Amino acid sequence: MEKTSAAFSCTHCCVFLIWLFLAASASTADLALNFYAASCPSAEFIVRNTVRSASDLDPTVPGKLLRLLFHDCFVEGCDASVLLQGTGTERSDPANTSLGGFAVIDSAKRLLEVFCPGTVSCADIVALAARDAVEFSGGPVAQIPTGRRDGKVSAASNVRPNIVDTSFTMDEMIKLFSSKGLSLVDLATLSGAHTIGSAHCSAFRDRFKQDPKGKFTLIDTSLDNVYAEELMEQCPAGANQSTTVKNDPKTSFAFDNQYYQNLLAHRGLFQSDSILLTDGRTRKQVEIFAQDQVSFFQSWTESFLKLASIGVKTGDEGEIRASCPTTNA
Ligand code: HEM
Repeated sequence: MEKTSAAFSCTHCCVFLIWLFLAASASTADLALNFYAASCPSAEFIVRNTVRSASDLDPTVPGKLLRLLFHDCFVEGCDASVLLQGTGTERSDPANTSLGGFAVIDSAKRLLEVFCPGTVSCADIVALAARDAVEFSGGPVAQIPTGRRDGKVSAASNVRPNIVDTSFTMDEMIKLFSSKGLSLVDLATLSGAHTIGSAHCSAFRDRFKQDPKGKFTLIDTSLDNVYAEELMEQCPAGANQSTTVKNDPKTSFAFDNQYYQNLLAHRGLFQSDSILLTDGRTRKQVEIFAQDQVSFFQSWTESFLKLASIGVKTGDEGEIRASCPTTNA
């Protein structure tokens, strides 16, 4: 009798341990392709359509959505923490005031809440929207896994230490990228995002100066003279603070390898772009991508996947927000 009850309790103990193991592995579950296949089959279609219509109406949307993912993933991981509104959130930090695309994410989320309430995370919407933005601009078509969950923490104080500034040295950029699990090749590849989108004059104005009589002087001599003059004309002293220039003036809205050709011609807009050519550690990669778009696209697909997977929350971490700008109660 005693033997039976010991065997019985041992069986229970094993079942309990197996359950515990399964529960633990569920909470650390990884991202998966077609994560929403059963719970919300139209998830990717809805995001795609929303991005498509918004981009058709406004060609600046793809650049905004792509940059949004970068700023989301580098701070607290890809968990939509950048979308949270309020005093002291990431979104309120000056480094994030020029971000855009929030309304597109909100529209997709509103639709998803109608079709599949409480199911699709804002973090996945941000990642899918960036992926689609690249594709609609002529970039590579990529499948990305989903299953990210939304974070509950968003602090402005986390932004500066985690976002690259245009004045960074190559060593500083490498250090920050490697702290996110990204290599030198990822840095050279993901910087190729600057093949679309635009920038405010303040982001590069320190590369030249203008005296009170309006005479320009080139401070950063790594810039091509003619290009610098074009920039100076677009961004004269006293220009409206909202004035922007195209990151890649030749093919502004096309996701292609023109960015790298610009770099070779000393026409990188930010100092952090030009440095990819001047530093021996990335120069070869720039030359390869400038010559071979296929190689850039292959590398992009791999690096983008790594970017969109930084510090993701899965399983029972975080939450699925009901509305992207606010955490659930
Ligand atoms: C390597 C370091 C990087 C630096 C220093 C940097 C810096 C900047 C700056 C200063 C702007 C202009 C913002 C403005 O004035 O409105 C900008 C724009 C942009 N960045 Fe980067 N960036 C970097 C990497 C990346 C990465 C990794 C991505 C995405 C994968 C990215 C995507 C973009 C896009 C798409 C825009 C245009 C945004 C728009 O059109 O609104 N950047 N970046």
